[in-house]
Amino acid sequence: MWEKKPVLFLLLATVAILVGTIVTMVLPFAWVNTEADRITTVTPYKPLEQAGRDVYIREGCNNCHTQTIRPLVADVLRYGEYSKSGEFVYDRPHLWGSRRTGPDLARIGGKYPDAWHTQHMEAPVSMIPKSNMPAYAFLKNHPLDPAYIEKSMKVLDFPYTPAEIAALNGKTEMDAMVAYLQKLGTGIPKAAAVTVVGDLKNPFPKDPAAMQAGQQLFAQNCVACHGADGEGGIGPELEPGSYDDAALFEMIYSGITANGMPSFAALGTTKVWQLTNFVNYRKEH
Ligand code: HEC
Ligand code: HEC
Repeated sequence: MWEKKPVLFLLLATVAILVGTIVTMVLPFAWVNTEADRITTVTPYKPLEQAGRDVYIREGCNNCHTQTIRPLVADVLRYGEYSKSGEFVYDRPHLWGSRRTGPDLARIGGKYPDAWHTQHMEAPVSMIPKSNMPAYAFLKNHPLDPAYIEKSMKVLDFPYTPAEIAALNGKTEMDAMVAYLQKLGTGIPKAAAVTVVGDLKNPFPKDPAAMQAGQQLFAQNCVACHGADGEGGIGPELEPGSYDDAALFEMIYSGITANGMPSFAALGTTKVWQLTNFVNYRKEH
């Protein structure tokens, strides 16, 4: 019946749209970037790091790399702790990106030694044979311009010391890039490394229920590489009774990642103990 009263209908429609607009567009301004979002351990970029950031932008690295880990299980397992809004307060502009031709770099800091980065930037295929990332060896031949970097630090209002500016003399864009990459994602404590803490005592030795659960987990997670009965395949044969429980747990939990045995920490310790019991105490067929 309202549609027969155009003026009233128009007014009501306007009010409805206005409320929607305020809730979805205006209020969020008050909800983000509050004191609660601040993270005290996140610090501004130092001159060398900021210089590297400028090169990153100039070279368009963000066309292939994102810098934001979404709160999705797949993202967190692959890249680490998901990104917090407070980690980006000094990113001007932000480099979240939207394309992942290469991996996300939000937590690349500390993942590799400096030398790895230098070699990888010089010739990505020397580290990752199938890499399609372009080489950036020329960065080594570009010296930094301390006066210019000092100007950017002033514009961004980031703290710096004259000594830090002086230290830029003789440094190249490669040094700056590596410093920048090593800073990424280090503003919050690293997610606990994939190693076990505490007691490595089998909580349910040879317990039938645990072994049955372990059998299921084995079928879901291990047979592709170790064979249906653990007889071996891509990975070696897993012979029952041949392991120390704690050592076996550790291998499954942490993986032997350098040799292609993945970590199964994501399953949680209970499930890894169930697997341990199944692998070590199952009957051989
Ligand atoms: C054409 C797309 C492309 C561009 C542009 C690109 N990369 Fe990459 N990047 C990749 C791919 C693909 C990989 C994965 C293979 C490898 O490690 O080389 C990678 C890997 C990396 C890694 C290792 C990540 C890890 O976790 O192992 C770093 C660091 C990196 N790139 C930095 C950069 C920087 C800095 C730039 C800009 C100077 C850049 N990339 C430009 C595609 C690209
Ligand atoms: C992607 C393939 C792959 C998957 C999946 C896999 N493994 Fe492995 N695993 C390997 C490889 C390769 C090795 C050999 C590593 C080495 O010798 O350094 C290995 C080694 C092991 C070892 C040490 C063997 C020994 O006697 O030294 C154990 C135990 C093991 N895996 C258990 C498991 C369990 C349990 C699962 C499932 C939760 C699993 N693996 C899933 C590939 C895999």
